[in-house]
Amino acid sequence: MPNATPTMPNTIQLLVVEDSELDYELLLAILSRDQALTGLRVRAQRVEDEAGMRQAFAGGRIDAVVTDHNLPRFDSFAALKVAKSYDEDLPVLVLSGEMAEDLAVAVLHAGADDFILKARMFRLAPALRRSLQAAEVRRNARRQAQALAASEARLRELTQHLERVKEEERRRVAREIHDDIGSTLTALKFELARLTRVLENRSAAAPHINAMQELLAQAVAAADRIQHNLRPPVLDAGLVPALEWLIQGFRTRTGVAVSFETNREEIDLPAERATALYRAAQEALANVAKHAQAKRVSVHLFAAADEVSLEVADDGVGFDPAGVHNVPGFGVRGLIERAAGFGGWAEVNSAPGRGTTVMFSIPIGTPAAPQDGLPSTVASAPKMESSET
Ligand SMILES: Nc1ncnc2c1ncn2[C@@H]1O[C@H](COP(=O)(O)OP(=O)(O)OP(=O)(O)O)[C@@H](O)[C@H]1O
Ligand SMILES: [Mg+2]
Repeated sequence: MPNATPTMPNTIQLLVVEDSELDYELLLAILSRDQALTGLRVRAQRVEDEAGMRQAFAGGRIDAVVTDHNLPRFDSFAALKVAKSYDEDLPVLVLSGEMAEDLAVAVLHAGADDFILKARMFRLAPALRRSLQAAEVRRNARRQAQALAASEARLRELTQHLERVKEEERRRVAREIHDDIGSTLTALKFELARLTRVLENRSAAAPHINAMQELLAQAVAAADRIQHNLRPPVLDAGLVPALEWLIQGFRTRTGVAVSFETNREEIDLPAERATALYRAAQEALANVAKHAQAKRVSVHLFAAADEVSLEVADDGVGFDPAGVHNVPGFGVRGLIERAAGFGGWAEVNSAPGRGTTVMFSIPIGTPAAPQDGLPSTVASAPKMESSET
C-alpha cells in the first residue's frame, strides 16, 4: 500500500511565471522571510512564457508553479494548462494584481490550487505549503485508485482464466465419457440385440433381456445428459437451440412453466461468449429451481448489433439482493464477475415476495474460430423443442 501521509521534499523547486523582475524579487523575499514559519525551503526560477515553462519542465523536477495572471504573451489559464500537462497533480497558485471574483472562481475551476492578490502576498507561503500537501494527498489517492484498478483487473483476468480452465476440463471429461463409456455402451447395445436374436425361442430369457435393454437405454441417456451438462451444446448447435435444450430439460425436471423468446434464431458469437451466456442461463435457472418456488419463468434473449442480453425472470419468493454478498453461494457473484470479464454487466433485481430477475449482458466481440466438435453417438444433438409451455 502506498503511504497516505503527505511527505514533502526538503527544498522545493518552484517555477514562477512572471514578467516583472521586481514582483519576482518581492515573491522570493516573502518566501524567504516566511521560511521559518512554514518550513519551506524554496529554490526558484523565473520564466515569462510557454517556451520558458516547457524549458524549465524539461530541465528537471518542478514541485509547484506560481503564475501571474496577466502576462504580456501569456495568462494564468494557459500556464495552468502547460503545468497540468506535465503533472495533473502539480500545485499551481495564481497571483493577480486586481481583485476580480469571477476571475478567481474561473481560475480555481480551471484547476488552480489558490488565487492570491498581490496586495496580500503574506498568504503566499502558507498557501504554497497547503497546496503541496493537498497535491501529495491527491497523488496518493490516485496511486491507490490505480493500484486498486490494477488489482481488480488482475482478479478479473484470473476469473476469466479459471472460467476457461473449468470449461476446458469439462470438455475433456465430456470427451472421455463420449469416447470410453459412450462407445462401450453402443457396442453393448449391438451385442444385446444380437443376443436377443440368438435367444429368440427361449422365452424365459426374454424378460431379462428386456430389463437389460431398459437399463442400457437409461445408461445411454445418463451419459448423454452428463455429457451435455459438462459441455454445453452451444458449440455444436448454436446458442438458441442450446438454450431451448436447457429450458426443456428444466421444464421436465421441475414442472415449472418456462417461456422462451428471442429476437434472433442465429447469433454469431465467439464460443467463449456463447458459453458464458449459456452458463448464465444455467445458473439463473438453477437458482429458480433451488430457491424461488416459482410457477412461471420467462427467458428472453435479445441480440442487438453489438451486445447480447439474457433475462431470466421468475415469479417466485424473491430475496433481498443487498444481502447476496453475505451468503456463501457463488452463483450470483460468479455471474457478475463473468459478465465484467467480457466487458459487460450482470444484475439481479429482486425483493422478498416479488420474484427475481437476472440480467446478463455482454458485448458480441469478434467471432472466433469454431472449437472442437464431438461426434454424437451417445450425445444426440440437442433437439429443437417448442418454446412455449
Ligand atoms: N431466483 C431466486 N429466487 C429466490 N432467491 C434467490 C434466487 N436467486 C438467488 N437467490 C438468493 O440469492 C442467494 C445467492 O444466490 P447464489 O446463486 O449466489 O448462491 P446459491 O445458489 O445459494 O449457491 P451456488 O450458486 O453457489 O450453488 C441464494 O442463496 C438465494 O437466497
Ligand atoms: Mg446459485
